[in-house]
Amino acid sequence: MEILFWKVIVEIIQIPNDLNEIFNNGTSWLSNPFGDHRVYGTKFSIGADGFSWKFYMNINTEEGARRMGYGLLSYLKELYSGLDGTVKVKQIGSIHLKKEKPYLSELILPSPPYINNQIPLIQKIMNLAESNNSHEIRVYIFWQFKDHEATSVLRDNTKSIFRYDFYYKIRIFIEVRPLFRQDIKRDEQVAELLGYLDYLITDIKNMKGNCAVLKKADVSAKHLLTMENLFNKSISIDTSIYDSDTKSFSKKIKAIDFSIPPNMPLDKAYTVHNENLGVPVTPPKILLGNAYRQGVLTKTKMYLHLHDLIHHVFISGLSGVGKSRFIASLANQIKNQGAHVGILVINLVKKGEEGLYNPDIILRKRDLEFRVPYFIPDKDIEVICKQVAAYLVSSLGLKNVVLSITKNVLYDDCIKIGFPKQHPEEVFMGVIEWLKMNPYHPKFNTNITRAIENRVISLLSSPFIKNILKLGPVPNWFIEWKKGKNVYIDLSNFTEDGKRIITHAIFQMVRTLLPELRTNELKYVIILDEAHEILEKTKHQSIDDDETVTRHYLEIVFEKVLRAFRSRGVCLVLADHLPNNLFEGVYKLPSIKVIFRSDKDFLQYISNFPEEQDDLANQKNRRALILDGVNARKFAIHTIDYSYQEQINESGSSGEMYCSNCKELLEMSTKFCHKCGTII
Ligand SMILES: Nc1ncnc2c1ncn2[C@@H]1O[C@H](COP(=O)(O)OP(=O)(O)OP(=O)(O)O)[C@@H](O)[C@H]1O
Ligand SMILES: [Mg+2]
Repeated sequence: MEILFWKVIVEIIQIPNDLNEIFNNGTSWLSNPFGDHRVYGTKFSIGADGFSWKFYMNINTEEGARRMGYGLLSYLKELYSGLDGTVKVKQIGSIHLKKEKPYLSELILPSPPYINNQIPLIQKIMNLAESNNSHEIRVYIFWQFKDHEATSVLRDNTKSIFRYDFYYKIRIFIEVRPLFRQDIKRDEQVAELLGYLDYLITDIKNMKGNCAVLKKADVSAKHLLTMENLFNKSISIDTSIYDSDTKSFSKKIKAIDFSIPPNMPLDKAYTVHNENLGVPVTPPKILLGNAYRQGVLTKTKMYLHLHDLIHHVFISGLSGVGKSRFIASLANQIKNQGAHVGILVINLVKKGEEGLYNPDIILRKRDLEFRVPYFIPDKDIEVICKQVAAYLVSSLGLKNVVLSITKNVLYDDCIKIGFPKQHPEEVFMGVIEWLKMNPYHPKFNTNITRAIENRVISLLSSPFIKNILKLGPVPNWFIEWKKGKNVYIDLSNFTEDGKRIITHAIFQMVRTLLPELRTNELKYVIILDEAHEILEKTKHQSIDDDETVTRHYLEIVFEKVLRAFRSRGVCLVLADHLPNNLFEGVYKLPSIKVIFRSDKDFLQYISNFPEEQDDLANQKNRRALILDGVNARKFAIHTIDYSYQEQINESGSSGEMYCSNCKELLEMSTKFCHKCGTII
């Protein structure tokens, strides 16, 4: 195909959020950024497929077209902080010029001056975009800078403000593509369409009383494409302006309101209040995503300093916003940046998330290797007895009085025989014994004994829990994790109590076995997605209720753990969808917060401004506000792409499963055999 010329298309994909303010400044996109006599075109398309807004210019080379496109887009971005768009170039050949536009009319404006202050033509097009969703309507506006008489009139002797009078030649065309539906009479649909066109030209009247009219266009589709010969007998509009700043001469225009109406159906830019991108982060650093600046997604990459992670990370976001992928990408980069950093993922809810982390070791309910000794001795045995008693009692939902008894039972054994009982189950039997020997009020005694017998013993006597928590040497996985391996612990098919006690036993082990450091260096990461499973505060506030009591002490235990982690170089990454149900410490103590689209109730803790809360509640998927308390930075990002790893290093498993009944090959992650119905 012979190339006749190149067309650049600048499509606007995002507009500012605070358009009312911009409107009051009189900012208009009808301008002549290149300062010459070239022809500019823009097209608004409305119809069943939605709305689009594109600017066009023509030139004879591809590079020239691209250059003009970026020039124009940058200029529009300068006019409208928060505006964003894309630039595309297209080659135009003779074949394109043959296309016809059967229903093309021209909006002929009466000659100025006009009665109305400003003709709200663009506003009307937007209103139509809201009501018309049946037919295709396209409004083309072409303009060219007309020779001007640069009559610089000194308006004010003292301030030396010039007055510039400029004029644009303008033509406006309307193309309709009727899309008739079968279920409604054609006449009715034609009348509807014509009514819409009539609406577009309402309110346009000049001083002599002449109105705007729609006439069949005397140019063809070819002219709209080439943008040539449009202004031989053009209408010029008095777009006179005056402004103190010569550069923005085209921003204030009188006759037609060529601004951006707030109801334009495009994405709105959400700017971060008090945005602060800070100074560039020094290596080792981990990539968070691409920065939004003034609400516009840019190619600027934003990082966190690796060692700042010891101040812990909290991530909030409703379901599906991209939390898990984000955490996994963090884990992946931490691995790439600091090979010595061990990552431990405690998976609480979703099955199959191991695919996100590429772990070296996976531990599941039935694995014999899955051990977390509930008690790890240390020099100060009394302190350890206290800590173990605190996490056992609080994660099992027992009242505080049991705490000192449990501690005494543990401590007694340690003193007498050198180590506590083999299983926590036996510790609580000891607590019941102790209660028998040293009774409290009978009712109280009965209640506690019953709680221990019914809930605690039954949970702790489960063979899985027993095997996991029993005393023993430091498990192999822990040793490997400490050396820098990735460990994935799947707790998804344990009960809530089970998840809680195992997680706290892990925390206790970490606290006891890792030495305190003086370096503020990141050594280990523990990831806890869906944190509500173990860190949710209770909804009922009754002081006598076991749950209330549990959560209260659990909260204290957790806060102590979090503080102890930092001094050991352990970063805790916590994520949840409804953080206001969690202990406050979960989102208050971590210094690095990542706020995806979240629940309004929670956002009150993040911002005092209703507008900012609104913006955060409206973020698109994968956009997040980063509050980096360590460096006082505040900015928004779009997360980097991250996918599931293809292969999972799970030794001993080929990945294929067969039905135990009919031996049929089972589909991946199915719950039942599709051939014989056996439940897997
Ligand atoms: N960084 C990313 N790269 C590629 N796709 C992504 C990314 N983040 C999110 N997605 C897409 O969005 C979906 C939801 O993401 P993800 O599972 O991370 O959300 P979530 O916030 O953890 O949701 P839930 O609360 O339900 O667990 C993914 O399945 C994926 O299709
Ligand atoms: Mg998730």
